Amino acid sequence: MTDFLDIDKTDPKDLRKIIDSAHSMKKARTGQLRGTLDADQPLANHMVALIFEKPSTRTRVSFDVGVRQMGGQTLVLSGADMQLGHGETIADTARVLSRYVDLIMIRTFEEQTLLDMAEYATVPVINGLTNASHPCQIMADIMTFEEHAGPIKGRKVVWSGDGNNVFTSFAHAAKQFEFDLTFTGPPPLDPHPSLHAGITIERDPAKAVQGADLVVTDTWVSMHDPQSARERRHNQLRGYQVNEALMAKAKPDALFMHCLPAHREDEATSAVMDGPNSVIFDEAENRLHAQKAVMRWCLGV
Ligand code: CP
Ligand code: NVA
Repeated sequence: MTDFLDIDKTDPKDLRKIIDSAHSMKKARTGQLRGTLDADQPLANHMVALIFEKPSTRTRVSFDVGVRQMGGQTLVLSGADMQLGHGETIADTARVLSRYVDLIMIRTFEEQTLLDMAEYATVPVINGLTNASHPCQIMADIMTFEEHAGPIKGRKVVWSGDGNNVFTSFAHAAKQFEFDLTFTGPPPLDPHPSLHAGITIERDPAKAVQGADLVVTDTWVSMHDPQSARERRHNQLRGYQVNEALMAKAKPDALFMHCLPAHREDEATSAVMDGPNSVIFDEAENRLHAQKAVMRWCLGV
């Protein structure tokens, strides 16, 4: 029984095992009708709680479907509707839920909420995004890169935009999977200083993407950012939009990724998002396969 809290807290050998298992579970489904259960039912007799304190489409649906494909059952819970949203502590919530369910996935605001859940739960806890990181997304992204472009080790990944939670998980992955990561964005939106040692920072996006195997961006205003910051962030980030002119400066076969949801024509143009190098919908699909592998690893099934 193991928590999946962050990519930098998970052994590289285990990360490799999870990605390999995701690839093989995806292959095993090839040829099956959409909606059918997996031949293998490792989560039979397992109940999984999916807690959301922020909105979600991909995380909610991919975890729910993934559990069902593996024979388990889910409870999708909104934080606001639980006593959690009315003052009950995370520690008490964790101890109570552990009496009912076999696994907890939580999407929340403060990282400390996730850590408290993991500390007090007696069942595994999975990070479904916090203000600080989004490890499940980047597991799907590594899987997607490998499908399209082979091993990621030694390859060049460039992030253009806000040094946010999704970037942080990319930085964790760069160390664990041994790829080069360049950040390009304005200084006020730099990644957390603790990440600077493991990455390259290049202010000029055109220079940053030279030789890139993968170009990534994300929304300019995340769910935890105040809406009052919107205009300022748009002004700061406008020059870091991923458009065809920028992609033309990367390697010709460079992939484009975005975790979605996107604000088309802000952080990336539709020409890029729907263009030949974009793998954004494979990324979304691979959330399903990668998280199924994460859940199996957490439960040891
Ligand atoms: N990428 C991602 O986590 O999407 P959702 O917010 O829709 O879950
Ligand atoms: N950085 C975004 C990712 C959404 C999946 C956010 O936190 O809102």
